[in-house]
Amino acid sequence: MAGHSDYVPQSAAAKWLESRLPVISLMRGSFVDFPTPKNLNYWWTFGGILFFVLIAQILTGIVLVMHYTPSTGAAFDSVEHIMRDVNFGWMLRYLHSNGASMFFIAVYIHIFRGLYYGSYKAPREISWILGVIIFLIMMGTAFMGYVLPWGQMSFWGATVITNLFSAIPLVGEAIVTWLWGGFAVDNPTLNRFFSLHYLLPFMIFGVVILHVWAFHTTGNNNPTGVQPKTKQDTLPFHPYYTMKDLFAIVVFMIFFSWFAFYLPNYLGHADNYIEANPLVTPAHIVPEWYFLPFYAILRAVPDKLGGVVLMFGAIAVLFILPWLDTSKVRSGAYRPLFKQFFWIFAAVCVALGYLGAMPAEGIYVTLSRIFTAYYFAHFLVILPMLGFLEKPKPLPASISESVLKGGSGKPAAAAAAPETK
Ligand code: HEM
Repeated sequence: MAGHSDYVPQSAAAKWLESRLPVISLMRGSFVDFPTPKNLNYWWTFGGILFFVLIAQILTGIVLVMHYTPSTGAAFDSVEHIMRDVNFGWMLRYLHSNGASMFFIAVYIHIFRGLYYGSYKAPREISWILGVIIFLIMMGTAFMGYVLPWGQMSFWGATVITNLFSAIPLVGEAIVTWLWGGFAVDNPTLNRFFSLHYLLPFMIFGVVILHVWAFHTTGNNNPTGVQPKTKQDTLPFHPYYTMKDLFAIVVFMIFFSWFAFYLPNYLGHADNYIEANPLVTPAHIVPEWYFLPFYAILRAVPDKLGGVVLMFGAIAVLFILPWLDTSKVRSGAYRPLFKQFFWIFAAVCVALGYLGAMPAEGIYVTLSRIFTAYYFAHFLVILPMLGFLEKPKPLPASISESVLKGGSGKPAAAAAAPETK
């Protein structure tokens, strides 16, 4: 990972290792001496929180697999066996299932942080694009993981979503049969989903390394969006940000534990405690909460293929976002109009999430259509135009100036007060 370190190995062992594989200086340059803007706020701790949740998911998942059986005849019972018989099995399962929700809460905050502060803009386009790739793999992983307990929602969710591919002209049906490994969601489907659910988190891990490499090459963005100019604008990553991230992780763990230990089924669906039955369709087939905005977009369009195209389009548009935003100013803090549209957009996403949980009828469909149109308009019309229409606020000359004078440009009390020590 990029990042310069003045590290000189002291001990004989360190000298030996460094001259063969310079991992110590690499790690020091990346996570100890790495110059980090000194004004990062708590929204910047979510990257570290995400890393923590990724590791927690991998570890709890590995132990769950020791007791899980990936076959349609035994999967449901093996999960009940984990819940009742395996020592702390209930805890592992609840940490893993709620961990998925925590992962999405953290990633949505991380993405919206990036949208607000313009972290996707040059020169950080690659960090952003790698992030969107991570997000896509995360969605695939979560979708396949939800199938594994082989409950009613597992089965019917998998049936509905895989069936979407049949909308593709000519080859659609063949693709669905290929995905299923047969003519319905069945044992071969469960087996391949299990295999991929185990594989994909390691791919996420690999892409995260590239993601970190990319923003260590460009340097972090920061709340002002102004690049650091002098040494005064940055602090070494350790101990300043290691400690801040650690504190945020502990607070996040309390929130996580509250769900895992007190509300373990709150974010799930009761029907998934009924074993999968291909002959009984649940009254409402609803995906997990984190897919609901996309589900609303899918159902907003009367045509199946159109719905599928828009649903994937809702993510595809994120790939080209760095080139859609025409504003020269990076951070939303200095963009009065953008700020308002940002909050409208955030509210629209929440509204789409609500609509995704409602039955696809009447007013719910009408509203889904309006908000879907707004979702795309935000990226394809509003952001390109705002750059030309908006008059941004004056930017601080440097990060240090904004820290010392406060964001408004007025001298802050701390800056005006004499030094006490
Ligand atoms: C497993 C998932 C992810 C992990 C572990 C992760 C990790 C990180 C970390 C540690 C940082 C630096 C600290 C921070 O800015 O919070 C970061 C920055 C960033 N992330 Fe992620 N990330 C993930 C997913 C995503 C996603 C899904 C996106 C966008 C779609 C994204 C976009 C960005 C961008 C643009 C930056 C640069 C921000 C800056 O330089 O200040 N990341 N990420």
